[in-house]
Amino acid sequence: MIPIARPQMGEDEKQRVMEAMDSGGLAQGPRVRELEEQFAAFIGVEHAVATSSGTTALHLALLGYGVGEGDEVITVPFTFIASANSILYTGARPIFVDVDEDDFTMDPTLIEAAVTPRTRAIMPVSLYGQPADMERITSIAERHGLHVVEDAAQAHGAAIGERRSGSWGAGTFSFYPTKNMTTGEGGMITTADGDLAERARLLREHGMKVRYHHDVMGYNFRMTDLAAAIGLAQLPKLPGFNDRRRAIAARYDAELRGVITPRVRAGVTHVFHQYTIGVRDRDAFAEGLKERGVGSAIYYPIPVHRQKPFIALGYGEEGFPVTERLTERVLSIPVHPSLSAAEVATVIGAVNQTAAELGPLEPANAG
Ligand SMILES: Cc1ncc(COP(=O)(O)O)c(C=O)c1O
Repeated sequence: MIPIARPQMGEDEKQRVMEAMDSGGLAQGPRVRELEEQFAAFIGVEHAVATSSGTTALHLALLGYGVGEGDEVITVPFTFIASANSILYTGARPIFVDVDEDDFTMDPTLIEAAVTPRTRAIMPVSLYGQPADMERITSIAERHGLHVVEDAAQAHGAAIGERRSGSWGAGTFSFYPTKNMTTGEGGMITTADGDLAERARLLREHGMKVRYHHDVMGYNFRMTDLAAAIGLAQLPKLPGFNDRRRAIAARYDAELRGVITPRVRAGVTHVFHQYTIGVRDRDAFAEGLKERGVGSAIYYPIPVHRQKPFIALGYGEEGFPVTERLTERVLSIPVHPSLSAAEVATVIGAVNQTAAELGPLEPANAG
C-alpha cells in the first residue's frame, strides 16, 4: 500500500540526534537556538520562537498578542481542530467564517461582517500548503486594528510572490512527522515583531527571564534539543522536499481525470503538504484506491464548529455552505517526496480507473 505520508529520516538526522544525546543537553538548548535562527532566516523574518508543537505555537502567539477572556478571534471551520482550540485555550471565542471553494482558505470577503468590538485577531489557515490570501487579510486587519496569526502548520516554504508564509503578523508552524519537515513533535512562531517574540519566549518558560524569578504566569511549551537536532537535519532538505512535492502535483494536475484537482492562485507557491481532490461517492472512491494499493485520507470529514466540544459550547447551527460541501467530497492522495516515479504512476492509474468506474464528480469542472 502506498501510504498517505512517509517521514524521511536519513543518516543526518540520526547523527545529529546521537550528537545531542552524547552532549547530555537534552532539553531546550543550543540546538533549539540554532534551529530558531535558521528557520527565521528561511522564512525571511527576524524572530523565530521554537515550541513543543504547532498547537502550542498557536496558543503562544495568541497569548503573546494579549488575546484572552472576552475577546473574539476570526478563523475558519475547515481546518484541523487545533486552530480553533488554541483560541479557546486563551479564553477567547472563535468566530468562524467560511472558506473559498477554489483554494480551501479563508474567504476574505466574509471577514468584515464578522468583526465586532470584541475582535482582537484574525487567524487564517494556509491549508494543504497554499497560503491564505495574506495580503488582503492583513490589509483588512490593519483597517480594524487587529492582529494576524497565520496558521502555517501545513505551509513551510509556501509563498505569495517572494514573501513566505509566516512573514505576516505572526506565523505558526507544526513539525509533526507528516508535515513537510519534522522534528518528531515541535512547532515554531515566526514574526518580524520583536515585542511579540520576547513575550512568547517569556510565556514559553513559565514567565521566567532570570532563573526562578517569574514575572507572569507562563507555561512549559519548550522544544527539546533532541527535536531541534532532527529539525537541523531536515531544514536544509526542505526546499528539495517541496520541489519534489510540487513536481508530483504537476503530474497529477496534468494526468488525473474525472476528479476536481486543486486550484493554485496566480503568483502563489503551493508546497502541497496535501494534494486534495474532489471526488464523487468518497467512501467508494477511497475503497477503489485501496483495492489498487493506494492509501488516501480525509482532511477533514467534520467541520470544526460541528465537532463535539464545539457543539457543547453552543456552536453547530451556523451555515458554512462551502465548508459543508468540501467536507463531503475532499480526498487527499499521496504526494510526499519519497514517492518513486512508479508509485506516482500507480496513484495516477488508481485515481483515473476509480473515477472512470464511479463516474465524474461534476463533468463541467472535472479533470
Ligand atoms: C492546520 C493545522 N493547525 C495546527 C496544527 C497543530 O500542530 P501540532 O500537531 O504540531 O500540534 C496542525 C497539525 O496537525 C495543522 O494541520
